[in-house]
Amino acid sequence: MAAVLIFGASGYSGLELLRLLGAHPEVEVVGASSDKYAGEPVRRRVPSFPRELKFQPHEAVEALSGEIAFLATPARTSLALAPRLLARGLRVIDLSGAFRLQDPAAYPTWYGFAHDAGPALAEAVYGLPELPSAPPPGRLVANPGCYATAAIMAVAPFLSAGLVPPGAPIFLDGKSGTTGAGRTLDEGLLHAEVDANLRPYRLLQHQHTPEIEQALSQVAGRPITVSFSAHLIPMRRGLMVSAYLPAAPGTTEEKVQVALQNAYRAHPFVRISERPPETGTLTGSNFVELHARYDPRVQAVLAFAAIDNLVKGAAGQAVQNLNRMLNLPETTGLLPEGWVTGR
Ligand SMILES: NC(=O)c1ccc[n+]([C@@H]2O[C@H](COP(=O)([O-])OP(=O)(O)OC[C@H]3O[C@@H](n4cnc5c(N)ncnc54)[C@H](OP(=O)(O)O)[C@@H]3O)[C@@H](O)[C@H]2O)c1
Repeated sequence: MAAVLIFGASGYSGLELLRLLGAHPEVEVVGASSDKYAGEPVRRRVPSFPRELKFQPHEAVEALSGEIAFLATPARTSLALAPRLLARGLRVIDLSGAFRLQDPAAYPTWYGFAHDAGPALAEAVYGLPELPSAPPPGRLVANPGCYATAAIMAVAPFLSAGLVPPGAPIFLDGKSGTTGAGRTLDEGLLHAEVDANLRPYRLLQHQHTPEIEQALSQVAGRPITVSFSAHLIPMRRGLMVSAYLPAAPGTTEEKVQVALQNAYRAHPFVRISERPPETGTLTGSNFVELHARYDPRVQAVLAFAAIDNLVKGAAGQAVQNLNRMLNLPETTGLLPEGWVTGR
């Protein structure tokens, strides 16, 4: 059993990590950090957790021995914490954006801080296992953002298949439930502000924009820019990205479907559906549901990706990356043993 530490265990992603890792057959959670809940039994927040364990202050968890650390912490915290843990010989899976962008100069613009952990950033591996030729995880995995996961997976197949002409504008419309914003108190996230309401936010400055462009540029083999708008919708969890892609001459409905099937043939967590996806059925699962159509009237591909933002968009994908790190089947702890793809 690999000994695991979870930093930020009281947050939405951290609690989901406790739920998933508590049931994982190959790891043991030996530390769960929270200043807010310090001293409280983990089971009070996660009833299915299998052992007696108490939340401990962040500093106390950092002093524990372990093999793998999950950082479900704000990006600035991860930026400082990851190098210290790496120096002590732990492997790190970071759920924040602190190590997702290869160019440190991009951080002041998109994250509001200067990146001062260059060596760690240089060795970080972007952990989206469904990307074509995704590298094996090294000592530090940058777990992708929730919107980025859905956006990249919706668009990548059509870039790979050459169905989007160079220079074509790519428009991405993202919608997320409120857990996507974390548990920090914020007037704009009060029930009375969010319920029966819909609003775009962080227009032109959402921090997942450069992450999406970085991954799609690698897939396409040329620089890709996107216009991405995020919306807050009145539900707790679940996320959808709708992508609008001008299509190259000669694109047909059949080519669109073939591109989608070819991209994800060997990936257990991808469901390609014949009807548009919906978020509700994915709650608690690590699946991404994809659907695409060719619109011949405007020669565009419409592509949709739905996920649970806290599972495939955060904790579940982090467990997928843990499995890859430990050379286990990607589905360990996420799907029942013997589960076979229905595709
Ligand atoms: N929510 C999502 O859908 C989602 C999806 C993908 C990635 N992410 C990323 O995952 C990370 C966690 O997100 P979240 O939404 O789960 O956050 P959250 O609900 O706001 O929780 C934040 C956690 O970080 C801890 N924390 C805050 N300041 C800290 C510090 N200085 N040192 C150590 N720990 C500290 C908090 O602990 P206390 O108990 O002490 O307050 C809490 O456990 C973020 O970087 C976020 O961008 C989130």
